[in-house]
Amino acid sequence: MTSRLLSKTIVVEEGLAKVYVPDISEYIREDGVVEPSWMPVFYNPSAKFSRDVTVLVARTYFSSREFFFLDLLSGTGVRGIRLSLEAGGVGILNDVDPRAYDYITENIKFNKLDDRLTAFNMEANALANLLTFTGVVVDYADVDPYGSPIPFFESALKPLGKKALLGVTATDRGPLNCVNKEKTLKRYWLECHSVDFANELGIRVLTYVTALRASALNYAITPLLYLSKAHYFRVFYLVERRNPYEEISRCKGYIWYCRDTLERGLSKTGEPDVSCKGGKRPIVIGPLWVCPLGSKEFVDRVAENLEKTPYLKNRDVLKYVNLLKSEVDVNVPYIRLDLLCKKIGANMPNMDSLVERLRSMGFRASRTHLDYRGVKTDAPLDVLTSAIRETGGAGSS
Ligand SMILES: C[S@@+](CC[C@H](N)C(=O)[O-])C[C@H]1O[C@@H](n2cnc3c(N)ncnc32)[C@H](O)[C@@H]1O
Repeated sequence: MTSRLLSKTIVVEEGLAKVYVPDISEYIREDGVVEPSWMPVFYNPSAKFSRDVTVLVARTYFSSREFFFLDLLSGTGVRGIRLSLEAGGVGILNDVDPRAYDYITENIKFNKLDDRLTAFNMEANALANLLTFTGVVVDYADVDPYGSPIPFFESALKPLGKKALLGVTATDRGPLNCVNKEKTLKRYWLECHSVDFANELGIRVLTYVTALRASALNYAITPLLYLSKAHYFRVFYLVERRNPYEEISRCKGYIWYCRDTLERGLSKTGEPDVSCKGGKRPIVIGPLWVCPLGSKEFVDRVAENLEKTPYLKNRDVLKYVNLLKSEVDVNVPYIRLDLLCKKIGANMPNMDSLVERLRSMGFRASRTHLDYRGVKTDAPLDVLTSAIRETGGAGSS
């Protein structure tokens, strides 16, 4: 370690990496939680989960093949260093902040990766544009900003090869979840409504915007894996340089929603031919992404890879991957059972038994990591209601 780092610097171990980070104990809030935004160089211990999943996705997507990656917003460099040590990546770590750059360079040396990683101290868009015009072809670009990823989409897409991977974090959950209606309209051009599937809505809006930006550059995207955790969403997209017309035609659509009855569904048109029980017109939200938010085939491969990677098999990752395997191909916005049970005067059923019951009746059904109170199912509301009562949620009324 050199004097270029803060005097209060510690070493943390994450995955197979050991990295210098600012002394976390100096940035703990009154409630005992680390506040990474107070740190002169950003390191969030609780985002280890996001980095574990990033490593797992890269290991799965690239198998054992060496790949070239661009970690545009690196902080201490921990994510990129892990991609190199744990997934075989060679690449570039970048941060606009000179203090972060010092951590990145020291951490590259500390992990003996000087021949595999190069540090840059540039504004992310400037660097990505520069690389595009110098012929560097990127297999994986990672965008992990504070807040919205929108300012980085176009530049991150441009250096990607013909078929590549893009990993995106969004921490602007207020606008994406439609909590902050004005910001949602301003940033995402979406007239939003409060819904009980707010986390799924956020990822559908984010994916739609990614597809929109990509398609302007003649890239087609396919979502491979999505996650919602604490303060952030993270989505991984397969990005292909080809005419995106077919995806846009298929995947641009709307969600209809009945606030009184909690019915919902996906629609290709903004004027769906459905009515809520009782005859009211549903609310219509969109346009947004109505295709699946991940690939079942890819998620199954991620689960297989996790089996072969014991050090990544911690409780959080296992729970997440198992749920994702089950939920990823149930392409219906989840319904919050606590709210539905309240409306129908039933007790909360055992959720696993409910899912089993719906499946035994021939419907698709799954719990979801997006909300532990939620169930995704294509069963009509009447069927779901009866199944709740049959599986222990009979209630008092
Ligand atoms: C959320 S942190 C990145 C965390 C890191 N990826 C990790 O996993 O620990 C965002 C980083 O982006 C850097 N940053 C913000 N705006 C930037 C820009 N326009 N260009 C390059 N870096 C930027 C900040 O200095 C900060 O270190």
